[in-house]
Order: sequence, then C-alpha cells, then structure tokens
Amino acid sequence: MAAAGKLEGVQACVFDAYGTLFNVASPVEKLAGEIGAKATDLAPLWRQKQLEYTWLRSLMGVHVDFWHVTREALDYALKKLEINETGLADELMTLYLKLDPYPDAIEGLNAVRKKGKRTAILSNGSPSMLDAIVRHAGADKLFEQVLSVEDVGIYKPSRRVYRLAMQKLAISDAPSICFVSANTWDAQAAAQFGFQVVRIARTPTIDDNIPGRPARVIESLSGLADLV
Ligand code: LAC
Repeated sequence: MAAAGKLEGVQACVFDAYGTLFNVASPVEKLAGEIGAKATDLAPLWRQKQLEYTWLRSLMGVHVDFWHVTREALDYALKKLEINETGLADELMTLYLKLDPYPDAIEGLNAVRKKGKRTAILSNGSPSMLDAIVRHAGADKLFEQVLSVEDVGIYKPSRRVYRLAMQKLAISDAPSICFVSANTWDAQAAAQFGFQVVRIARTPTIDDNIPGRPARVIESLSGLADLV
C-alpha cells in the first residue's frame, strides 16, 4: 500500500502520455458501431501487442518509431480477430492522432502548473504523434517540454529513456522529478530508476511483480496537485 501525503522536493512533474493523459481505447470506441462485437477485444489486444512490440524491438535492437509499432500491432490484432473491413486500419490510425484526453487530465495539469511545478511529457510516442495529440487536446501550453524516446532510439522501460528526462530538464537529482503514469510497469520502472512516482489507477490495479514501487497511487489526476 503506497503512503499518503505530500511528496517532498518535487521540481517537475513528468507525465506518461498514452493511457495516462490520453485514452488509447478512444479510436476503437469511436468506430465500435462499424467494428461490431469484436470491438471489445480489439482495443486491449491492440494496446497489449503495441507494448509487447516495443519491448521486443528494444531487446532485439531493431527500433522503429511508435507510429510503425502501433500499425504493426493493429495489423496483428485485426488479423488475429479476423476483422477484415477495408480501410478500417487507416481510419483507426488517423484517430490515434486525435486521442481523447481523459476527463481529469487537463484539469489536473492546470492544477499542477498553478502550484508552480514544471511539467513535461516523456513518452514512447514519436514527436509528430505527440505533437498531434497534445494540440488536438488544446494542451500545448501546458507542457514546458514534450519528450519522445526517439531521442534515444529505445523504448521504455530502458533507463536511457528516464535519464533523457533528467538531461532535457537539466535536473541532476532523480527524486526531484515526480513521474506520473497509469501504466504499472512504466510507473514501477521509473520508481526503480529513482523518480518519485505517482501511479494513476482510474480502475483499481495491483502493482506488477517487478522491482520498483510507486510512492503514491491515486484514482485520478485531479488528486495530483495536492501531492506536489
Ligand atoms: C507512453 C506509453 C508507455 O506514452 O504509454 O510512453
């Protein structure tokens, strides 16, 4: 059970993007009428394969950007579920550039900014994907920096990715960064790296059985400002 109360010494809040600020299920939800009953399985399978492919490619040493990985995962998921509708994959990919932010995301970010904390995104997304979703959400003024793994050519949870945030923000002391993620493995890897981590659990989820534990677990981004 994570402790309660304010975190000490936080200079910057660094946010994961997909699944934390932006709802990765929203493209499938928007086309659910077209997809039919298999939509329920498509969204989680697409996401799971997308993540697996980032991990596999990082271990294999064959990096391609998140746009390619996302399409490869989608093509796999559509094939596996025997969904053959012409043009559907292209439509879903287009919607991936217009993901809905979670309802608590913008309000939570504004509250953290009001506290005077620096804010950044640190994501697997390619720079153009991140630029598109941030602009679409009208959130471009809410981040000092939007950082992509493309700068290091390997995916989370490589330590090189978390180190990138320290370098780009010119913060030499890892615990001065509060890393915020709803992805358990990302939250835990960031904690193991040395950040103070707040995990967002919009639906109750237990920690993964890997090293690293979040300092706090909260139900939505609305509670973040009180912690920093
Ligand atoms: C990201 C993935 C982990 O935004 O959701 O980096």
